[in-house]
Amino acid sequence: CKNHTIKIAIDGPAGSGKSTIAQKIADLLGIFYLNSGALYRIIGYYLDNQQINPEDSKTIMNKIDDIEIVIKNNKYYLNGEDVSDKIKNAKSGMLASIYSKNAAVREKVNHLIKEISKKNSVVVDGRDIGTEVLPNSDIKIFLTASLEERARRRWKELKERGENVSYQDILKEIEERDKADSTRNISPLRPAEDAIIIDTTNKTIEDVIQEIVNILKEKGLYG
Ligand code: DC
Repeated sequence: CKNHTIKIAIDGPAGSGKSTIAQKIADLLGIFYLNSGALYRIIGYYLDNQQINPEDSKTIMNKIDDIEIVIKNNKYYLNGEDVSDKIKNAKSGMLASIYSKNAAVREKVNHLIKEISKKNSVVVDGRDIGTEVLPNSDIKIFLTASLEERARRRWKELKERGENVSYQDILKEIEERDKADSTRNISPLRPAEDAIIIDTTNKTIEDVIQEIVNILKEKGLYG
């Protein structure tokens, strides 16, 4: 069918290489890349700025519609302001994880993802894309890597951006975020039953891309 849009879900924990790999796969296929973590980071950033208690569901529910997120040319806008860079730091990751436990927050993000993927072919990365948000994705990939390796990657990335962070702090932060994301009640981080699990610990980005390209070819979605 000509109108069929392709949906590729790439889930996994922090530092598993999701966003780098999802972006490259989207570029290869010439389709839209959607970073669902960025959506949670934006909402976390906004609610934290407004000093809203993450446990205060009522206020979150009242405020949630004040948040307008627009994505244009791979840039993420919060109520008109480009916040793409602002939300990349470690604090935003932690805030995203904390506020993402709220049902109204998840609903807003899921709605956005569903709307975008209705009209466009997409690669979406996150925690629950294959399990909850787009369970009928054409391909579901679950990326993992050892905790130490993921912390090392995150640390390198943040340092390269000029953040002064210690490896030990990042390791601790990722460990905490893993725990929070995997044990929360709504949509915890876990692979879908039909996800292809790739352990990236001893693999380069190129290795992983090649592996996914092979899967795409097998499914007739590439080449
Ligand atoms: O992928 P990331 O590190 O940018 O995600 C930040 C946080 O957002 C993550 O720790 C948990 C939350 N998140 C989520 O709950 N569900 C998603 N699909 C993506 C992110």
